[in-house]
Amino acid sequence: MSNETLTITDNRTGRRYELPIEHGAIRATDLRQIKASPDDQGLMSYDPAYMNTAWCQSRITFTDGDRGLLWYRGYPIEQLAEKSTFLEVAYLLWTGELPTKDELHTWVHGVRYHTMIHESIKKFLDGFRHDAHPMGMLVSTVAALATFYPEAKNIRDSECRRIQFYRLMSKMPTLAAFAYRHSVGMPYVYPDNRLGYTENFLNMMFHGREPQGSLDPESHHSPVLARALDVLFILHADHEQNCSTAAMRTVGSAHTDPYTAVSAAAAALYGPLHGGANEAVLRMLREIGTTADIPDFIKAVKRGERRLAGFGHRVYKSYDPRATIIKRWADRVFEVTGRNPLLDIALELEKIALDDEYFTSRKLYPNVDFYSGIIYEAMGFPTDIFPVLFAIPRTPGWLTQWRENLEDPEQKITRPRQIYLGHGRRDYVPLDQREELTDETTRV
Ligand code: ACO
Repeated sequence: MSNETLTITDNRTGRRYELPIEHGAIRATDLRQIKASPDDQGLMSYDPAYMNTAWCQSRITFTDGDRGLLWYRGYPIEQLAEKSTFLEVAYLLWTGELPTKDELHTWVHGVRYHTMIHESIKKFLDGFRHDAHPMGMLVSTVAALATFYPEAKNIRDSECRRIQFYRLMSKMPTLAAFAYRHSVGMPYVYPDNRLGYTENFLNMMFHGREPQGSLDPESHHSPVLARALDVLFILHADHEQNCSTAAMRTVGSAHTDPYTAVSAAAAALYGPLHGGANEAVLRMLREIGTTADIPDFIKAVKRGERRLAGFGHRVYKSYDPRATIIKRWADRVFEVTGRNPLLDIALELEKIALDDEYFTSRKLYPNVDFYSGIIYEAMGFPTDIFPVLFAIPRTPGWLTQWRENLEDPEQKITRPRQIYLGHGRRDYVPLDQREELTDETTRV
């Protein structure tokens, strides 16, 4: 055996074990041989929230939290954001390589011509209350799509998987825009496949709601705004093993169809600690109100009463590279839309936080969500659609991670272990013999 090993001495038995180390990890199943007695099930590793567990081998996205690096298939995010397009990045994620001109043409055509949704889905959307949260509507309607494409269950068929990829990529913006139109009581705007991906989305969202005073009926999908959204979509396309991707891989590992699995991933993304954070940032900035009120808010955060939304990241312990790019794009968007006054509060908040020992010692920096909401708001998106604006571009990442999991011969249905700390065996007590609860015996 090479010196790429770990020697463990079990002090319970005095036995020594030598475990191979590969790619900086030991295999958790190698611990199973370490037993205190013959009927022992073997040693496990305990890792709540997967703080230090690699659960797959992946070739899709690389992050280095200390150096603030993010690469898709080896390409730095900064280069992709400057030179590529969202659909090209989706191709890169899915296939592993940048496309040739012909490949890109076929790909874009495939995505562009699946934008329509079945009329019955519209009726489904009509059933929601007028004030339903668009993310709740998206999560449900994406899952409902599975009933329209039952062949999607053929998850081993690569051609079938590619078609579902096209469908999900192209229908997510349509569902999102329809959910929004429903919530404002406006008629749905059908996809216009002559438009680019983000232009089409902006048109479905805002057609007929042009900015007040605008003389240009097309201003809602100006090239600058469409490109800004395209860049934001590139930045959100994948982020290796986060909460929603873990949900996608987990649900997919049971061979569930991709629509239902994407719905589960979107449900995970909905949470305020994940994709709901950009919405939380806007609410927080509005609540703070003025730059003069920032110090009091920071004090509440330091007392542990509040969290600074859009700050901190499980991986990035230096500046989130996506936040740097977004901050740059904010100025270009504001040239078209006018400056969002919340930006001043955000900039001041960042300045104060980055100068404060509480934040620097915990390595809390702005993450992707800190500035994205301010741009979205300036573009006219209502706050509660922000998590939806995360779910649309994360779709290619989820689907690529899902496929990688399915194609990995080492993967099986996800099934974590637990350490059981509950009662030992006990007999059922009939209802009339149970004692009233006292303060000491509270039920969970
Ligand atoms: N504001 C104030 N304090 C914070 C924040 C924050 N935003 N984030 C972390 N901390 C503090 C914690 O209180 C903790 O302090 P302690 O050591 O004194 O107890 C310490 O920093 C470490 O925090 P953890 O919660 O252990 O960090 P974890 O890696 O589990 O959490 C998370 C990461 C969820 C992103 C967290 O930083 C957070 O809640 N941020 C705000 C929500 C947010 O912006 N989420 C979006 C993330 S990006 C994305 O999902 C796309």
